[in-house]
Amino acid sequence: MKAEDLIEEGVIDALRSRKAKFYEDLSEVRIRMGLNENFLVDKFFSHTILMEAAQGIDVRKYPVTKGGRAVKAISEELGIWEDELIVGNGSDEILDLVAKVFVGRGEALIVDPTFEMYRFYVSVSGGSARSVLTDENFEIRGDNILNMVSKKTKAIFICSPNNPTGRQYQRDEILKVVKDFEGIVVLDEAYVDFAPYSLMMEAPKYPNLLVLRTFSKAYGLAGLRIGYGVGDSDLIKWLRSAQSPFSVNSVAQEACRLVLKNRKVYDAFIKMVVEEREYLMAELEMINSLRAYPSSANFILVRVIDPAMPSSEVCRSLRKEGIEVRDRGELPLLENCFRVTVGRREDNLKFVESLKRILGGE
Ligand SMILES: Cc1ncc(COP(=O)(O)O)c(C=O)c1O
Repeated sequence: MKAEDLIEEGVIDALRSRKAKFYEDLSEVRIRMGLNENFLVDKFFSHTILMEAAQGIDVRKYPVTKGGRAVKAISEELGIWEDELIVGNGSDEILDLVAKVFVGRGEALIVDPTFEMYRFYVSVSGGSARSVLTDENFEIRGDNILNMVSKKTKAIFICSPNNPTGRQYQRDEILKVVKDFEGIVVLDEAYVDFAPYSLMMEAPKYPNLLVLRTFSKAYGLAGLRIGYGVGDSDLIKWLRSAQSPFSVNSVAQEACRLVLKNRKVYDAFIKMVVEEREYLMAELEMINSLRAYPSSANFILVRVIDPAMPSSEVCRSLRKEGIEVRDRGELPLLENCFRVTVGRREDNLKFVESLKRILGGE
């Protein structure tokens, strides 16, 4: 059966009602809720896409250069000109290129608390990173960011919806930064498929806005490594000029094409994540010793209110029960916080149950 046919077969309904997996020995279970992977994308469906992609490929040949096959597919499916697109080995590769090409030994502003890899790539390329903090509600004001710009600032990294707060910033505040800053603004929309709006189609209208997207989250292809950036053609040309020709493998390029052909199926998976997120949020809100922050992504930031119980300890105890979440308590503004990825219903139930036990008889 072809992947495209699955939608006709009512497979989505079947997937929804699929029986929960029961674990016999909970001590051996590893429930991955720490890396914002997406296990609500059905494994069988993913496998079908992967097999179909692999069948169409002769791996004796090098891939089409610079992700060309995927560039074409994204261009056709999403209506973006090819010269306004760069495809990378994960959006990570594009972050690396931005740091090399646009930051170099200069300085980058990073809107914190956020994804650590911006700082990593900037420092590896010899640059320095400065933090601009969100406010206590994890919101940004464009003016506050612009006030921090110095002569050395080459790029500003904004993640929206932000990892790990889950907050999607207001579009006008982001666009204010884009309009009034002369360097590059990287808007990382890795989680935007779970959120109300995207600025991706705005990117080519500004000479200095690069919007990054990934197939790792909403499309559940984290292991295949494919992501893309959208921006003005000159900006994209610079990035591509520094990219190694074969970084995006053939299977990933073809899988990208198939995934986009099956967008309706993935829309259903995305809807399931959003519904499950709201379910998990409601469960967390019922636990008195926690504060869960509303999220526009596939994870939720949680603050442990009891100072006698550090978030690192909660994470350690969860790990002993086979559940992996991510402690974020060391990041600015996030004292005693951890981040949990939205999982399948059975994983979410197990997580909530364990959490209540760890926090003491709730
Ligand atoms: C905000 C953000 N950007 C980018 C990435 C990397 O995505 P990719 O798998 O496309 O390299 C992640 C992965 O966790 C992320 O959280």
